[in-house]
Amino acid sequence: MSRKTTISLIKCDVGSLAGHHVVPEPLFDIAEKNLKKAKEEGLINSYYVFNAGDDLQLLMVHERGESNPEIHKVAWDTFQEAAKKALELKLYGAGQDLLKTAFSGNVRGMGPGVAEMEIEERGSDPIVVFAADKTSAGGFNLPLFRIFADPMSTAGLVIDPDMAGGFKFEVLDTIENKKIVLKCPEEIYELIALIGTVQRYVVSRVWRARDDLICAVGSVTRLSKIAGKYIGKDDPVMIVRAQHGLPALGEILVPFMHSYLVEGWMRGSHWGPLMPVGIKNAKCTVFDGPPRIVALGFQVANGKIASGNDGKPMMADLFDDPAFDMARREAVEYASMLRRMGEFEPARLGVEEMEYTTLPQILEKLKEHFKPA
Ligand code: 13P
Ligand code: 13P
Ligand code: MG
Ligand code: MG
Repeated sequence: MSRKTTISLIKCDVGSLAGHHVVPEPLFDIAEKNLKKAKEEGLINSYYVFNAGDDLQLLMVHERGESNPEIHKVAWDTFQEAAKKALELKLYGAGQDLLKTAFSGNVRGMGPGVAEMEIEERGSDPIVVFAADKTSAGGFNLPLFRIFADPMSTAGLVIDPDMAGGFKFEVLDTIENKKIVLKCPEEIYELIALIGTVQRYVVSRVWRARDDLICAVGSVTRLSKIAGKYIGKDDPVMIVRAQHGLPALGEILVPFMHSYLVEGWMRGSHWGPLMPVGIKNAKCTVFDGPPRIVALGFQVANGKIASGNDGKPMMADLFDDPAFDMARREAVEYASMLRRMGEFEPARLGVEEMEYTTLPQILEKLKEHFKPA
């Protein structure tokens, strides 16, 4: 049997520079220090620290399986230490996503977002790690559909015999906390019926149907459901495997050639256009956005991330490319169109989502002034 390797991507907003803008250097330094130590102690084999806007991202590759308490503890302790530093520096939103205090073995349900997959290594295992800021998990439904179910987007669905039989999608109902598995192409219309409702149904996992090979995992946290109020958006992450009987790297990226609308943006209360960017532009500005997404390519090899001569993991900054200029321009155009509408729906989210924001406090104050019409 081939070797089993686990890829864990755990992220958290622990405080940022100049509002909800970007993770500052002192917090990166803490993450680097702690993951270096975890590597030296043999807990993890490789790591890569990066950010998507104000979210600190810890990518760890190891052989301890999913939901491993020691791996989760490394992430939890790192976020705690970084939050403490953020507090000292009076950074904005110090400890924002750390909703619970006592760690009990798993960061799920405590605030941080998690995407983890244990894989049996193939001859070569390219992966793409996506991380977005100022949006939520349902924002990945559209590209995941395109990548694994849309034959007009992924050529391999039509012309690669190894993809015959399609893919299975696990969809989470984030309101009732239930899940369902739908197989494409047979249940493609039912899948769209569900995941088109991006605020409720979220794709959590994708497998190749013929052999149940794991292909994609996404984070599905809803912070407001944990905290009961608006904290920040559930800025999502996902891991997607590529090539050799799976969608090719370019088939994974092509859905991002155009911008599309996601929920999040200013105060997590608006529809906004998703903008694919390289790491250097993974920082939100205009109306706390537009929501950004980065895509990092790696090779998983022998329980590690393949590294270069300097011993550092080799990373491909996939959206740092003029091929995504059109999507970026579209994002700015859509942003300007939506902002012209100000606080009028549908630029602002509908009432159900606004329940978790500070809007109800405003409405509460007006209640007593209403008279029978
Ligand atoms: P302030 O109340 O600090 O302005 O925060 C608003 C905000 O950014 C919501 O996340
Ligand atoms: P984050 O969820 O990225 O912290 O953003 C919160 C916010 O209110 C932005 O306006
Ligand atoms: Mg924030
Ligand atoms: Mg964020």
